Amino acid sequence: MIVVLLAVQFPIGWLMPDIQSGLPPGSLMTLHITIGLIILTLIIVRFTWRLFHPVAPANTLPLWQRVMSESVHWLLYGLVFATAMTGWFFVSFRGWRVSLFFESLLPMLTAPESAAGRLVGGWHQAAGFGLLAAIGVHVAAAFIHAFVFRDRIMERMLPRS
Ligand code: HEM
Repeated sequence: MIVVLLAVQFPIGWLMPDIQSGLPPGSLMTLHITIGLIILTLIIVRFTWRLFHPVAPANTLPLWQRVMSESVHWLLYGLVFATAMTGWFFVSFRGWRVSLFFESLLPMLTAPESAAGRLVGGWHQAAGFGLLAAIGVHVAAAFIHAFVFRDRIMERMLPRS
């Protein structure tokens, strides 16, 4: 679900109209915020699940590959979290009133126009590109395992009976 939502989220982020100063967010921006908050919720749930259901690195791999694999997976969690949180800071900096379920409003993380909101919200684009780079490394590693090493590491992603 997270992969599918991210595949939708990036194009929306790039295609949505530029922000007009003093105007509320448009419908594409509101959709982007909604999907982003769902991704944030899912990544926290997934991370919590993994804390209590850890998966040991494949012991057939050399140490450097185990370290790389652990690092990239931590990076992916961190960057999804950071990308979503910096977007939320951006919204807080703008002081936008975004409706959530049952007519409640998205809580603000900082006061409107605050220096902290501007600073952290300004990292959203960079965090998104960092996330894309980490996804690229992850996908490249998967292909290398499948087609170069042919070591059946990818089979670990399939459900076990
Ligand atoms: C992991 C989830 C998310 C991804 C991958 C993502 C990705 C993006 C991308 C690619 C852009 C366009 C940046 C550019 O101009 O090149 C963008 C913009 C934006 N996003 Fe997100 N976003 C995510 C979550 C969120 C969340 C949760 C919020 C708000 C609660 C948010 C709010 C915004 C805002 C306000 C902008 C326009 C300002 C800007 O360009 O920095 N995003 N996002």
